[in-house]
Amino acid sequence: MEQEKPSTQVVSVIGSGTMGAGIAQVAASFGHEVVLLDSNGEALSRARVGINKSLRRIVEKGHITEAASCEIERRINFVDASLFDASSAFGSSVLVIEAIVEDLNIKQQTFKRIESFVSPDCILASNTSSLSVASIASACARPERVLGVHFFNPAQLMPLVEIIPGMATEDRYVERSRELVSRWNKTVVLAKDTPGFVVNRLARPFYGESLRILEEGIADVATIDWAMTELGSFKMGPFTLMDMIGNDINFRVTEIVFEALFYDPRYRPSITQKRMVEANLLGRKVGRGFYDYREGAQRPEPTRDAGLGKRIVDRVVAMLVNEACEARLLNIATGEDLDLAMTKGVNYPRGLLAMGTEIGPAEVLKRLEDLQAEYGEDRYRASPWLRRAVREGRGLL
Ligand code: NAI
Repeated sequence: MEQEKPSTQVVSVIGSGTMGAGIAQVAASFGHEVVLLDSNGEALSRARVGINKSLRRIVEKGHITEAASCEIERRINFVDASLFDASSAFGSSVLVIEAIVEDLNIKQQTFKRIESFVSPDCILASNTSSLSVASIASACARPERVLGVHFFNPAQLMPLVEIIPGMATEDRYVERSRELVSRWNKTVVLAKDTPGFVVNRLARPFYGESLRILEEGIADVATIDWAMTELGSFKMGPFTLMDMIGNDINFRVTEIVFEALFYDPRYRPSITQKRMVEANLLGRKVGRGFYDYREGAQRPEPTRDAGLGKRIVDRVVAMLVNEACEARLLNIATGEDLDLAMTKGVNYPRGLLAMGTEIGPAEVLKRLEDLQAEYGEDRYRASPWLRRAVREGRGLL
């Protein structure tokens, strides 16, 4: 992270948890005076310690000086909402980013309150992952300045930010937030206000189809992970990643996307993962998930069968590419932004549309048609975007 000249622009962040603390650190590192507000004093103390630790590591790596790190910390004003009159803290903000609990009612109340404190031109952004921007903005008297600004965890490190205009958002606020966030060394993609936006929607088959392969007994967890990393070139296998994210969180996101897309079978959650959650096999954070992380536990060996591995990768990748095609069809983002989002937000080796183009749209379509013929499930229906590309002999972008 580079250090920038101090800016006179104040950025406020509401909620000093995992995301809010990270976002505050980013904004302060790029010169802003930051107001970081939380209703819980302990959360603020944790954020202060966390930001200090994170900056320490950046100094140790030699990316910034000790003095710069102190200056960044000095720029962050930690405000306890239960003690302070928030109006004085927010007054001069150009942008407020809300990163509180994922609850529509609480977010709406918060936006209503913020609206009465800030200047008329201040942008009001939510870091929500799963609620609609339209529903949050609807609580505001001026929804035209409300939008989604969605960071990825950890916000200090992940380069992607999705900007999501709501139904009522005016272009000038979209442009201003894009300009601001781009200055923070972030890659910005513009996404439609639809469930999961880009990354959380397009990534669903990575987990869902791998879980399905497991459930059918085609391969075990270690073999699927091996295939996806060694043969598919993904940085992390799906089960290792689900254990890292937490099965409870990963399952909840799938469930939310499934419900919000009116129970389209493409997004149906997995019973196996639900049972994992019920059994408290949540992943790394509890010591057990798809793998056993307890001391002395042995990592299972994959079956290194290249033929089986190829079948696994072909199937999961076909579903991922199809999902990107559907997003392209529905104008959820431009083709370039859909691909950028997956490489910058979840470290995919390539964008999904580029991957599908390289494999060949006809080959991807054939894999899906074979799956649909075998299972007879709507889950495997090919996107019209993919069919059109095959018919017209063009790429998927
Ligand atoms: P968190 O639980 O770590 O932090 C939330 C913080 O908000 C807590 O410190 C809490 O005390 C505070 N808070 C709750 N209600 C408040 C209120 N009314 N006023 C002021 N402060 C309040 O949550 P996390 O994980 O940081 O998530 C925050 C938001 O970011 C959610 O909308 C979530 O969906 C979204 N998000 C989370 C990601 C993640 O990986 N954790 C990734 C991207 C987005």
